Amino acid sequence: MNKTQKVLAAFLVLIILFTGAVLSRIWLFKPQSAVQLVKLPAGEYNIETWGKNYPLYYESYQKNLETAPSPTGYGGGINIQKSERQPELFVNFKGNPFSKDYTEDRGHQYAMHDLRESKRIGPAAKGACVTCKTPYLEQFYQEMGWGYASRPLNELMDRAKDHPINCANCHDPETMGLRVINPAFIEAMQRRGIDVSKASREEMRSYVCGQCHSEYYFEPGTFKVIFPWDKGLTPQEMYEYYSGKPNGFEYDFLQTDSKVPVLKAQHPDYEEWQNGVHGKFGVSCADCHMPYMRKNGQKYSSHWMTSPLKTLNESCSPCHTQGQELLFNQVKAYQDNTWQLQHMAGENVARAHEAIQKASQIPNVNQTELANARELLRRAQWYWDYMAASNSMGFHNPVQGLNTLGQSIDLSHQAVNAANKAAGTNSL
Ligand code: HEC
Ligand code: HEC
Ligand code: HEC
Ligand code: HEC
Repeated sequence: MNKTQKVLAAFLVLIILFTGAVLSRIWLFKPQSAVQLVKLPAGEYNIETWGKNYPLYYESYQKNLETAPSPTGYGGGINIQKSERQPELFVNFKGNPFSKDYTEDRGHQYAMHDLRESKRIGPAAKGACVTCKTPYLEQFYQEMGWGYASRPLNELMDRAKDHPINCANCHDPETMGLRVINPAFIEAMQRRGIDVSKASREEMRSYVCGQCHSEYYFEPGTFKVIFPWDKGLTPQEMYEYYSGKPNGFEYDFLQTDSKVPVLKAQHPDYEEWQNGVHGKFGVSCADCHMPYMRKNGQKYSSHWMTSPLKTLNESCSPCHTQGQELLFNQVKAYQDNTWQLQHMAGENVARAHEAIQKASQIPNVNQTELANARELLRRAQWYWDYMAASNSMGFHNPVQGLNTLGQSIDLSHQAVNAANKAAGTNSL
């Protein structure tokens, strides 16, 4: 070997060693995938069976059983009544079961238990309520189509009882591919011109969550679940949609005192995120709520779907280099600002209900002005509740959130003025 050959040989050895190291690292850290110990058939809803094939994923999913407050103090996976911090809920939901029982959301495994225990559910409750609580939805829909939605809830709960939300809600058991099983989401997307069955994996990383973490209403008579997205996903667009009395749906309940026909908002997390900076820039729910983790040399995506602030490093640092403390403080600042306005907006809604009630008791009240006041308050309450019912305390979309609450406060003031005008007590 001459000198050049020696250098070349040494170089070759180095390249081989380097490639070997890279390959073994990729091999070692590749996602724990189809180590098929048991064949999972279509319709496999038992989490234990899935767990045998994917122990790391199962283990991290079981962390959803932990109950702990959010590190910022807003929400978190704990079972507390929202009215403890927002007594205005008693007024704003008077005439609706939400005034009796309205708890913070917690981990997915509690979904069936919390549904059964909810004081909002009576013997007349309908099957539609299991839609976002169990993978059995797939079977119910296969058997009955939308007919499941008007079956008695107790009957469906008895069949699905030991199987709250799990792997089969988001994964096809035969291929492990991501999937969406809620027909309400699929239909709403279809009406917006989007075919969910053709979605990319990246899109599915948000769709799987959006199938449940979204606003909906029940079609009168059939209890079919419908997402109000035909005109768009902002609070304004959804309000316009509801104003058209879609499918004969007019309101969720009449507030007892003011007789305002109220729309009750339900966790519009997907909607809020979609219009926010992360949604617009293509950052998916899974990017933050299911970050990549490593254990025993294996890489896997966390299935502990909770506050990303508990895993700030894994959740945010792949994209943000600002440092944990700065990021945490920024989230907290958004939330503090949102909370302050949300609480204020809720109290203003409550005051407007009282003003309208008072006005309506006056003989010869101006009925046109009174109707005007009720419409203004209906909109004010929707804007407030869009924020109060969504779960991130403003983080998913701080700009839209503060705008929405500002509008709510103004509309409540306008409603009080209109009520006073109707009563002849004063105008402006
Ligand atoms: C950029 C990161 C990010 C993205 C993307 C994101 N979230 Fe969040 N999410 C957060 C943060 C931060 C919070 C606030 C956590 C806290 O208060 O501790 C949060 C809160 C939540 C909560 C409330 C948790 C609780 O404490 O009760 C839910 C539910 C939620 N997100 C669902 C979603 C869904 C569904 C999507 C996609 C449609 C999504 N998130 C997209 C970061 C994100
Ligand atoms: C709420 C939806 C949801 C639930 C419930 C869920 N997963 Fe996942 N899972 C996902 C998403 C989203 C990904 C993709 C993460 C990524 O792209 O890195 C994923 C990825 C995986 C992967 C990696 C292979 C792949 O296709 O990327 C495995 C294995 C897996 N999940 C197993 C499970 C098991 C086992 C359960 C039940 C214990 C479960 N999952 C429950 C949403 C879910
Ligand atoms: C099948 C419906 C369904 C799907 C799919 C779903 N969720 Fe949930 N999620 C719920 C329900 C219902 C609750 C509240 C359960 C309770 O409080 O009993 C919840 C609670 C949560 C919480 C609160 C837990 C905590 O610790 O604060 C977070 C965060 C969350 N979901 C995020 C997600 C993310 C992210 C995805 C997608 C990867 C997702 N969810 C998919 C229905 C769903
Ligand atoms: C996949 C990449 C990605 C991840 C993960 C991610 N972000 Fe972002 N984030 C962005 C992008 C892109 C922007 C838009 C502006 C920019 O380029 O900084 C942004 C903007 C922000 C902003 C400022 C803008 C605003 O109005 O919200 C904050 C605060 C923020 N992110 C916090 C977080 C936190 C907290 C997490 C983890 C829970 C997180 N991000 C996770 C990509 C990401």
